[in-house]
Amino acid sequence: MSPPSTASPQSQPVPRHVAIIMDGNGRWAAAHGKARLAGHRAGVRTARAAARAGLAAGIDVLTLFAFSSENWQRPADEVNGLMRLFVEVLQRELDDLHANGIQLRLIGAREHLPEILRRRIAAAEARTSANARMTLVLAVAYGGRWDLVQAARRLAAKARAGEISPDDIDEAALGRHLALAGLPAPDLLIRTGGERRISNFLLWDLAYSELYFTDALWPDFGADEFAAALAFFQGRQRRFGRTGAQVEAVAD
Ligand code: IPE
Ligand code: IPE
Ligand code: MG
Repeated sequence: MSPPSTASPQSQPVPRHVAIIMDGNGRWAAAHGKARLAGHRAGVRTARAAARAGLAAGIDVLTLFAFSSENWQRPADEVNGLMRLFVEVLQRELDDLHANGIQLRLIGAREHLPEILRRRIAAAEARTSANARMTLVLAVAYGGRWDLVQAARRLAAKARAGEISPDDIDEAALGRHLALAGLPAPDLLIRTGGERRISNFLLWDLAYSELYFTDALWPDFGADEFAAALAFFQGRQRRFGRTGAQVEAVAD
């Protein structure tokens, strides 16, 4: 039987950058007769396991969407509970992340976060800044539209100050002002929880990512699921607009 047309004769290496929309904590909690926050706590355990799996697989960057620009609209109890949970998790996990050579980086509108959380984030980023085994990017108070707007604003300020001319604003310059500047774009996007949408995640950076959707709720997304997502990625032929024959000629 001939392989599906999207399959590559040579399988892809592991993705350098995996981004995950960790969705389904609330539904997991409801299914277990628990409060939504218990679902988020269970989700933290999965996030920790995903970081370990990423390290073991040799991934360079793992980006986790933990709280979106739109999530501020949730009930205050849930928002406050999540902020407290982020503070607690940073405190508890930092030694372990550092010992494993993981560099931590937060992307998002951090000025909207509670002061205590901002301080913990800054301390964690400073402490792990020289680590090079894997970068763990936490997207908190993050939105893809926010990201594009803040990049546009900074470029406009530089143009007004005469540091750059409008003609200097090309794709590379915009990319250097986005939150993920300096990191490769995600090769693979995983979304758990059954929805097939981007929900204002990395709008620019996902332009050529492979998309993997699973119905598994985030707290149930185990090592097998992670391995299945990586296997899916390794079966894709990445053409970036070229023909399959062109890509195969380069690979030979
Ligand atoms: C994702 O799980 C975590 C956050 C958005 C903070 P949800 O809380 O969205 O879970 P569901 O979609 O309601 O099940
Ligand atoms: C996306 O999940 C955001 C995070 C996982 C942090 P949501 O649950 O907020 O997405 P929508 O609202 O269903 O699109
Ligand atoms: Mg959700």
